[in-house]
Amino acid sequence: MTRQLHLNAIYSAAGGSLGGWRHSDAPATAGVDFPFIAAQARKLEGAAFDAIFIADLLAVPDSHPDVIERVATVNDSLEPLTVLSALAAVTTRIGLVGTASSTYNQPYTLARAFASLDHLSRGRAGWNVVTSLIDAEARNYGAAAHLAHGDRYRRADEFLEVVYGLWDSFDDDAFRWDVGSGRAFREDAIHRLGHAGEFFRVAGPLNIARPVQGRPVIAQAGASPAGRDVAGRHGELIFSGAARLEDAVEYADDLRRRAEDAGRDRSDILLFPGLSVVVAPTRAEAEDQFSRITDLLHPRVAFGDLEYWLGGVDLTGYDYDGPLPQFPQSNQSHSTQERIYETARREQLTIRQFVERRLRTEHTVVGTPAEVADHIQEWFEAGAADGFNVSFPALPGTLDAFVDLVVPELRRRGLFREHYTGATLREHLGLARPVSRRLGVGAATR
Ligand SMILES: Cc1cc2nc3c(=O)[nH]c(=O)nc-3n(C[C@H](O)[C@H](O)[C@H](O)COP(=O)(O)O)c2cc1C
Repeated sequence: MTRQLHLNAIYSAAGGSLGGWRHSDAPATAGVDFPFIAAQARKLEGAAFDAIFIADLLAVPDSHPDVIERVATVNDSLEPLTVLSALAAVTTRIGLVGTASSTYNQPYTLARAFASLDHLSRGRAGWNVVTSLIDAEARNYGAAAHLAHGDRYRRADEFLEVVYGLWDSFDDDAFRWDVGSGRAFREDAIHRLGHAGEFFRVAGPLNIARPVQGRPVIAQAGASPAGRDVAGRHGELIFSGAARLEDAVEYADDLRRRAEDAGRDRSDILLFPGLSVVVAPTRAEAEDQFSRITDLLHPRVAFGDLEYWLGGVDLTGYDYDGPLPQFPQSNQSHSTQERIYETARREQLTIRQFVERRLRTEHTVVGTPAEVADHIQEWFEAGAADGFNVSFPALPGTLDAFVDLVVPELRRRGLFREHYTGATLREHLGLARPVSRRLGVGAATR
């Protein structure tokens, strides 16, 4: 069978651009407007997208007040699992992927929540496992500072092992529902975990049947060496932050090698780089729409975004037309900070030029349906992508245009499915249903 492209929508209510909420097409309150969110999800499902993904941050970032009051995600970040559960009720096929943190949760809580979403949606759940990003999140969970970077990933690794064990609490064929004897399930088909590790002590079993997919699909976006190791060991959907084709190819090769080192198959992981699209029938119309969206992004917000990704630094007082100063490494994502400094150095960009460049990175394609499809096809055929995390800068217009113009072009090229052929997210992605680790273990090891 020819290799098929996958599409995952990175959903943010008023659009991926931080100024998107000011766009006249979107209700400014889109972030908390469930009928609006459901309508977007149904359009994506109508186009046979593999999944819709909702990211998360567990705090209001420590940004400058002038930035905070201009950014909608500060006050409209609905909790992902809650939104996805609601979407499960109004969609039937699209995968439902949400972020949850292994740093600020307990394995039992998330094993239960994602197993529940998988049952509610009949096998469409996916979990983007993150280790969280900023100290402001730590302060909402009883700590002054974020756990050290390496510790966060060790915790994530153990967290996932515990969660897999909990998901395997009941064998797939445990349930008999034998009305005559009054027994619901075989007693030897339930397994206690008895986990005692560096970070967690969890007795188990989980109080819910094995998820429909065996395990909800695991998404991961580790980019540092420690993050890549965890992604290679556990990730199935790998969200790549790489902006240039050669970096995305390097990342894909490295992740596949790490997966193999962990005893997995290269085909067990699917690479999803990001792609932000503004498409229109002509290039001039697309450029015009893109300018209208970027004009809505207040310059202070654009600079604030850079301050955020550099680990909460303050650029006030620096010459925006001078070089980007090197700040001490923060405990936030190391790889993101390194990527920013590396790009600024390589291209000798001033702070202002860097911020302008970020508005239109290689992640952004502004053009005709054929130009967008060319980009997708090039990355797909170069081995940089099995699919894309598509984001829509301003909703609903840029999403509608992608569905109406790009999806038919991808189909015309034989790259993307005409309709769903499977029922679960794993089936959409061509990922096998994991066999229970407890298969054949029996009651003796409970
Ligand atoms: C597409 C994508 C989505 C992400 N979503 C989240 C998120 O919702 N919450 C979060 O805390 N981090 C998120 N991250 C950050 C990653 O979890 C990770 O920290 C980052 O890619 C850097 O890797 P590192 O932690 O190994 O340095 C995302 C990254 C990417 C590329």
